[in-house]
Amino acid sequence: PDLEALRDVYASQFLIGAAITAEDLEGIRLELLSKHHNAATAENAMKPEALQPQKGTYTFEAADQMVNAALDAGLRMHGHVLVWHQQSPAWMTTRPGEGSPLDREEALDNMRTHIRAVMEHFGDRMISWDVVNEAINDNPSSPEQWKGSLRQSPWYHAIGPDYVEQAFLAAREVLDENPDWEIKLYYNDYNEDNRNKATAIYHMVKEINERYSQEHPGKLLIDGIGMQGHYGLNTNPDNVKASLERFISLGVEISITELDIQAGSDYQMTKQQADAQSYIYARLFQLYEQYAEHISRVTFWGLEDSKGWRAAFNPLVFDRNLQAKPAYYGIVDPDTFI
Ligand code: G3I
Repeated sequence: PDLEALRDVYASQFLIGAAITAEDLEGIRLELLSKHHNAATAENAMKPEALQPQKGTYTFEAADQMVNAALDAGLRMHGHVLVWHQQSPAWMTTRPGEGSPLDREEALDNMRTHIRAVMEHFGDRMISWDVVNEAINDNPSSPEQWKGSLRQSPWYHAIGPDYVEQAFLAAREVLDENPDWEIKLYYNDYNEDNRNKATAIYHMVKEINERYSQEHPGKLLIDGIGMQGHYGLNTNPDNVKASLERFISLGVEISITELDIQAGSDYQMTKQQADAQSYIYARLFQLYEQYAEHISRVTFWGLEDSKGWRAAFNPLVFDRNLQAKPAYYGIVDPDTFI
């Protein structure tokens, strides 16, 4: 109970977030959430299939409840996600029945309409949006050619390689119409510690932002890069550092959007594994502190180990009894711990 709050430890540097579900906003889970965090991301509740399951039918209730409860608890909300290849209804990109891609104009219209409706609905309750998620292939072979490194997703098939830029233009248009909103537009991806993947992301963001800046001097189209940070005990923090430095060199802000470090298996880990996990968390937070000037937010992909997408691998900072793991102590005091 007298643990130092993570959000206080890093208050002058960046926000500390967690991915949440509705049950994290009640009882002792809410206590843990709001004690240590000052930001949140809906783990699933704001994905396209959750918000517009059928064309023109918007289901905002659950997400609204979540966002309002999170704001009441003092958390800032990050929006995840507008354009993605998973958890997105087929109608957005694909013809019914035969499964072939929609015409470009129809898919573009679906994309723009979704982006506008969702951003306008949540308005300035959000601090940032993942506009496009996971557009780049894993370990692309010619990463300087970022267009050739794009994932062959339903959006890509229907619209073509400029779908990423088109998505950001649509989101930027909404922000331009609402100049009071302070919302940042993010490109978000995983395996960003892979050098080739980071290279492709770098070139994509660079080209899109340069094109935009030529017409809008001094302005960026893509404000930030989200480094998801789904790591394991074999992750080398030096590779994370290399990617972080390259992204910062683009002049964008960075958020660590989905941090977790898998250790052990079958819902168990040895003391050695727990310590190794703590060591990597400490190394990473040491790195984030070093570049804190460029980092807006560090968000864990969940609140505690018992739930979530990789629960069996004990990836988070608190255990199933909501108690601090060795990882917590590594994060609170990385220098001493390393
Ligand atoms: O809602 C259904 C429920 O009705 C059903 O009974 C149950 C049975 O399997 O499935 C439920 O849906 C699951 C959903 O999570 C909600 O729990 C899906 O099967 C499951 O696939 C889905 O997994 C999510 C995953 O994204 C899907 O892509 C994870 O919770 C979520 O943590 C994960 O998050 C992603 C980020 O959005 C993007 N980056 C990677 C990250 C981890 O994969």
